[in-house]
Amino acid sequence: MYHQPVLLKESLDGLNINPDGIYVDATFGGGGHARKILEQLNNGILIAFDQDKEAEKNAFEDDRFIFIRHNFRYMKNFLKYMGYKQVDGIFADLGVSSYHFNSPERGFSFRFDSELDMRMNQNSKLTAKHVVNQYPEKDLFKILREYGELNKPGKIAKAIVNIREEHNINTTQQLVDAITPYFPDRFRNKMLAKVFQAIRIEVNREITNLKIFLNQTKELLKPSGRLVVISYHSIEDRLVKNFMKSGNTSGELHKDFYGNVSSPFKLINKKIITPSEEEIEENNRARSAKLRIAEKEEVQE
Ligand SMILES: C[S@@+](CC[C@H](N)C(=O)[O-])C[C@H]1O[C@@H](n2cnc3c(N)ncnc32)[C@H](O)[C@@H]1O
Repeated sequence: MYHQPVLLKESLDGLNINPDGIYVDATFGGGGHARKILEQLNNGILIAFDQDKEAEKNAFEDDRFIFIRHNFRYMKNFLKYMGYKQVDGIFADLGVSSYHFNSPERGFSFRFDSELDMRMNQNSKLTAKHVVNQYPEKDLFKILREYGELNKPGKIAKAIVNIREEHNINTTQQLVDAITPYFPDRFRNKMLAKVFQAIRIEVNREITNLKIFLNQTKELLKPSGRLVVISYHSIEDRLVKNFMKSGNTSGELHKDFYGNVSSPFKLINKKIITPSEEEIEENNRARSAKLRIAEKEEVQE
């Protein structure tokens, strides 16, 4: 299976679908969420983005469905080009798919030995090999701390730099060998996952792209249109939370003349939505998922 969709029902409920509306699935992947959205449409349209050419193979043959193999950071341009000024709902299920983790040759997983790649878009220039071998130590430190949330990123950055002075780190196994001695045995997999996550986020510019994407939703959603986002780590979730609360990713609250907080969105779920124990048992990848839903306010300033 390419990918098992996470929080499927909750996401669909969050979109509050109008069968004749226009919807965007910014992260098509295996099309699990998209298929359910399409099932609820009558004369509506679903526009799906995914930057990975493998995901395109899952695209549906359906007159109401449009697949765009591009980064969702270009959502606004594509919608404008197609003549859609505003849409009824935008959905994003962030990060990589199970297909990515389970495909040894893509280099996303430390479970397999392969070239250090980690690109979601196979045409992009920046690879994990470049990050690991060319980034200055201080930049490695920064991404390990910010994107991997490692407590002691300095040790790992230094270990990488020491090894690469001897030889290039070309494969996932070489990277694992370089850093494993610095982790206690019982935390080995957890720590490796954090390092691989950090590098992947950097390679795919995930944080920059998410900020650009979120900012576009303000303009692209119709009044009462829904924004539904699933994130898998706290850096992403913080941006989504801030954005839904304030309309900007730094979470800066704007007040009107009378001191009332004004935001382009109304929160639909005040409390974060997470998968049930049954879902996690059935699909371990769901364990870190966090769903947030917001609605574009009717009246804008
Ligand atoms: C978690 S998966 C989505 C799974 C999907 N909801 C399903 O049910 O099959 C995320 C997908 O988004 C894509 N993706 C991640 N960031 C992207 C971006 N900036 N632009 C376009 N696609 C992106 C990845 O290639 C991956 O296929």
